[in-house]
Amino acid sequence: MTHPIRAMIAGTGSYAPPRRMSNTELESLVETSDQWIRERTGIHERRIADDSISCADMAAAAARSAMELACCAPEDVDVIVDATITADYLLPSNGCLVQEKLGLFNAVAFDVVAACTGFVAGLAIARGFIESGMYRKVVVIGSERLSSLTNWSDRTTCVLFGDAAGAVVLEPSENGSGILSTFMKSDGRMSEWLQIKVGGTKHPHKREFAWDGSDKIAMRGTDVFKVAVKEMGNACLKVIEQAGVKPEEVSWVVPHQANMRIIEALTKRLGIAPDKVVINVDRYGNTSSASVPLALDEANRAGRIQPGDLVLMTAFGGGLIWGAALVRW
Ligand code: UT7
Repeated sequence: MTHPIRAMIAGTGSYAPPRRMSNTELESLVETSDQWIRERTGIHERRIADDSISCADMAAAAARSAMELACCAPEDVDVIVDATITADYLLPSNGCLVQEKLGLFNAVAFDVVAACTGFVAGLAIARGFIESGMYRKVVVIGSERLSSLTNWSDRTTCVLFGDAAGAVVLEPSENGSGILSTFMKSDGRMSEWLQIKVGGTKHPHKREFAWDGSDKIAMRGTDVFKVAVKEMGNACLKVIEQAGVKPEEVSWVVPHQANMRIIEALTKRLGIAPDKVVINVDRYGNTSSASVPLALDEANRAGRIQPGDLVLMTAFGGGLIWGAALVRW
């Protein structure tokens, strides 16, 4: 039986900085409690990068470990896609910094700015490159140093975020495994619901800037929550339908780790059993574009995901933008 060329995940990798920040530690920064954070979000702790670890450092570490697992030589990498909203610099891209750090000099590197959906967007881009025959080996990374953009005096957001990176190596497969379907959608009418107002070219930092938190992440959490459950659910159903499978055939759901209650509502709507859902929001919080590949790597290295499994990934973030990908492992 012949199969179409698909983009298969040949290796996964991740990196999380060693420093753990507990909920109790946050109690000394803002008026919150360990109990509130656990009950409303499912988060117990998050990782915070110290000054010596940049976003590109984390991205490179995750990519390196994915390449090792995929037995991918540096000279074989054709494309590096780094999904991030916290790149080391506005210019050049984080992708080019990763290229330099890992010596991937035969590749083209660039960044994708799609907030928490960035990694899923990267998968969709890589799928197009590989299925069209344009490129063979694509490294897709999600890397975030969100602690740099967190407003540490806003209790409605600072308890949520953490730093990390995750990555995969994609290559062509002809045995039926690989990405079966992808879906993405955005709605810019809700762009102000999750935003960093100051620091771009429209409202640059000024020397006499009076700090009011507007150069940090601000979010209308409850509104975002509702759209997240609805649209991640729709995106998942779309990729399941496109692939011609049924929700009950899904082996693993790897959802964006924003909030345990969002994950529970999503999987309940899809009718997928809780023991098929990969969860690590308790240990890392919301790491934006790193969230899905970090959870995927943990599940893969723990031997939970096996060849032939159907793996459903989905994410949602500022833009607003959301998406899903269904992969035959
Ligand atoms: O990754 C990108 C997408 N992001 C998300 O998907 C995040 C989506 N949103 C959420 O996860 C949730 O909306 C939050 C966790 C951000 C908030 O949970 P919520 O159940 O929507 O709470 P809420 O905003 O309605 O706040 C409930 C109460 C409020 O007090 P009052 O007005 O009822 O007196 C808040 O002021 O909880 C208060 N509150 C807190 N209390 C203690 C908000 N944050 C905190 C806090 N500690 N950290």
